[in-house]
Amino acid sequence: MKEEKKNIFSVFDEILKREDKERLLNQKAKAIWFTGISGSGKTTIAKEIEHQLHSQGLLSQLLDGDNIRVGISNNLSFSTKDRKENIRRIAEVSKLFINCGVITLNCFISPTIEIRKIAKDIIGEHDFIEVHVNASVETCETRDVKGLYKKARKGEIENFTGISAPFEDPENPELEINTSELSINESVNKVLKYILPIIKNK
Ligand code: ADX
Repeated sequence: MKEEKKNIFSVFDEILKREDKERLLNQKAKAIWFTGISGSGKTTIAKEIEHQLHSQGLLSQLLDGDNIRVGISNNLSFSTKDRKENIRRIAEVSKLFINCGVITLNCFISPTIEIRKIAKDIIGEHDFIEVHVNASVETCETRDVKGLYKKARKGEIENFTGISAPFEDPENPELEINTSELSINESVNKVLKYILPIIKNK
């Protein structure tokens, strides 16, 4: 056999599977998909979860709209078409992490049932845990951490979710976190209680 061919075969033989990586990390990989309007608390909750998982020896990667939109989605707007493309890219990225055994914490508005279905279909329903981070537009507008609601009301931002673009509530999320009622700690604990038995090896 030719030297190059032997090399190609040996590389093939050595390709590791997701299960090998999950075993190495001693965890089960899933995408925890946080959906909700801007300012509802998706990233705040996910950041704390990432810390808690880390301290328990569980490896995760937080993916968030604002970060992704300055990187791999930096050519996309907030039109329906571009939001779909944004979520498609994110879902493909999440899948790569999951195949590497890593838990992803996805924080994206992902405003419609159709858009979240795109993500779920790419990631696979068994690996997709949908968490609706729910707070009313009024609550998020009062918080207005980034000052975006004010701008949207003045007409300075077009297609702003909750104001000039729709948000459809998930029909059957695994979890709903109402951040108008729950504190950050309570929200984090509710998510952890649900996901830890799924992602932790016994
Ligand atoms: S998604 O709809 O495509 O899922 P994504 O989560 O990536 O949205 O980005 C949302 C973030 O972009 C918001 O948290 C906000 O900071 C910012 N943003 C800028 N313009 C808009 C807009 N028109 N609608 C919603 N969010 C916007």
